[in-house]
Amino acid sequence: MILYSDMKKFKRYLVTSALPYANGPVHIGHLAGVYIPSDIYVRYLRLKGEDVISVCGSDEHGVPITIKARQEGVTPQDIVDKYHNIIKESFQKLGMSFDIYSRTSSPIHHKTASDFFRKLYDDGKFIERTTMQYYDEEAKQFLADRYIIGTCPHCQNEKAYGDQCEKCGSTLNATDLINPRSAITGSIPVMRETKHWFLPLDQYEDFLRKWILDGHKEWKVNVYGQCKSWLDLGLQPRAVSRDLDWGIPVPVEGAEGKVLYVWFDAPIGYISASKELTPDWEKYWKSEDTKMVHFIGKDNIVFHCIVFPAMLKAHGDYILPENVPANEFLNLEGDKISTSRNWAVWLHEYLEDFPGKQDVLRYVLCANAPETKDNDFTWKDFQTRNNNELVAVLGNFVNRALVLTQKYYDGKVPARGPLTDYDRDILNELPEIKQAIEENIENYRFREALKEAMNIARLGNKYLADTEPWKLIKSDPERVKTIMNISLQITASIAIAIEPFMPFTAEKILKLLRVEKFGWENLGSDDLMKEGHVIGTPELLFEKIEDSVIEAQLAKLAATKKANMAKEAGKQEIAPQKQGISFDDFSNMDIRVATILEAEKIAKTKKLLKLTIDTGVDKRTIVSGIAEHYAPEELVGRQVLVLINLEPRELKGVLSQGMILMAQDASGKLVLLSPTEKVGNGTIVG
Ligand code: MF3
Ligand code: ZN
Repeated sequence: MILYSDMKKFKRYLVTSALPYANGPVHIGHLAGVYIPSDIYVRYLRLKGEDVISVCGSDEHGVPITIKARQEGVTPQDIVDKYHNIIKESFQKLGMSFDIYSRTSSPIHHKTASDFFRKLYDDGKFIERTTMQYYDEEAKQFLADRYIIGTCPHCQNEKAYGDQCEKCGSTLNATDLINPRSAITGSIPVMRETKHWFLPLDQYEDFLRKWILDGHKEWKVNVYGQCKSWLDLGLQPRAVSRDLDWGIPVPVEGAEGKVLYVWFDAPIGYISASKELTPDWEKYWKSEDTKMVHFIGKDNIVFHCIVFPAMLKAHGDYILPENVPANEFLNLEGDKISTSRNWAVWLHEYLEDFPGKQDVLRYVLCANAPETKDNDFTWKDFQTRNNNELVAVLGNFVNRALVLTQKYYDGKVPARGPLTDYDRDILNELPEIKQAIEENIENYRFREALKEAMNIARLGNKYLADTEPWKLIKSDPERVKTIMNISLQITASIAIAIEPFMPFTAEKILKLLRVEKFGWENLGSDDLMKEGHVIGTPELLFEKIEDSVIEAQLAKLAATKKANMAKEAGKQEIAPQKQGISFDDFSNMDIRVATILEAEKIAKTKKLLKLTIDTGVDKRTIVSGIAEHYAPEELVGRQVLVLINLEPRELKGVLSQGMILMAQDASGKLVLLSPTEKVGNGTIVG
């Protein structure tokens, strides 16, 4: 076990967090597994005054992004731009304190990764191999396994992918598929020779064995165990290039149409981000007295413990990670979180649904983090932890300390009289809790660390319950001064202890106490709040979450489940036909072709866009509930169908004159309707 004293041999810290794929937003599984622990760790180090950089960014290459782009009829760059922005913004709102959040499509990363490959190439660290791979003669390109569809040899599913059958879950090779077809053109692919570069991992096996199995026995059991089983199976050379047109070109002559394998370039993203952050980046990457820690989820273990270290070793200039505290997975309401099945709580949606409650999510995800085994997130547990722990324990103590000080002393910190043995016992517990938090954080046991931090509030509540100052205020006012003084010292310590976990709340407490931020070393001091200092007006730190709020979230998930089941059954629920109408009823509807000229979000709403449209008849404003389905910039210039003689209606203070016609499926997805060929604005539909 690494203890606090061992840490001292390191002069600085380089903390990396897995680069999220920019093919979807970030969800609670990512947060609990990677980002919350990483942020706790770096905030703690900074509070201690350590020299630390924390780097992250979007992982923007790889086949899934090209598939998504093709499906949506946009470029891969469009996809990564969209998700990079969503992810970056939502991380920032959650209080993630990366020193830099970069991206792998940036020029600095392309150059860094390309140079890295070239050095390994020039030093003869790769082996070249010619392999056979499926090729689409119509599309004139090699096909990644994901781009081949065929019949699964195990379950006869006709829509299995070349790397996996999603019906029976088996892992496949493209050559296993019966009747393979190209997902791009539908044509039958042929086998063609192709040349690739391989990193001969087998040559690094001895080094990795010694470094991990002998040298890092302190790694988490789940991480060490996975490494051991990989190493025991024996390592094989791994291809580090791909035939693909999205990624970083292989910087070698005769490698046209080939890019670096995404798992080769992505971890180099940590280096590029550091370079972008500081001209001093080499100090962090190339000195033995830097402690590098990779925060990742368990599906990334082999890449961070075996492949990337082998790359770094092959390169020769860089240090290796000191620890890789990977977490297991978080499930949601008993089911595996899945981006493609929309089974997730998305961070950007949470932030909209629960404004100002970032710390509640941070708290619940840390308290329930899948540190040693997979865990389950449930909305009920979210509510319980908020109501019974944050409100009833933490919020309650801080509020009582502040309110009583306000009430008895007009907010002035009272002087302390002689301490009783009990007072001393209480105060003596603080340094012990401090040490327990340190030991737990430094050993990546963040749940335990958080529990200890909360114990300070528990201690405070116990102190007030035992001393009952409200009963003594008349009979023994001097004693009450001491009690309240001590309660305020405890409150200040809470602000320090919870900062890594709940930075917004810590800041709020400091604001209520009207004091500047303390350093970690001040935790447990009995002299943080000076006699005579005036605190602010008390405010509640947390509020109860009502059943209705939780029910709304559960209803959202239930709708997802229903839509997924309908999709799986290959059909959507079809609404029954409505009551008949007369021909006049129909011809009274004035539907026209119109063009959207401008589109903007209506502030403080989730769904509404204000559109300015040219109906041919006039230019007018229509409010439309499509903000969750289309970005404003996607809409400008589009032709749509509009019911123009609908009664005007005021929505959020904007007068809406008409309705844009749309199709809506069972899952709630909205799709605009447009003429299949361009026609003049004002053209009658009917
Ligand atoms: N994008 C990968 C994932 O989400 C993680 C990449 S980590 C890096 O699983 F090291 F490669 F950057
Ligand atoms: Zn199958």
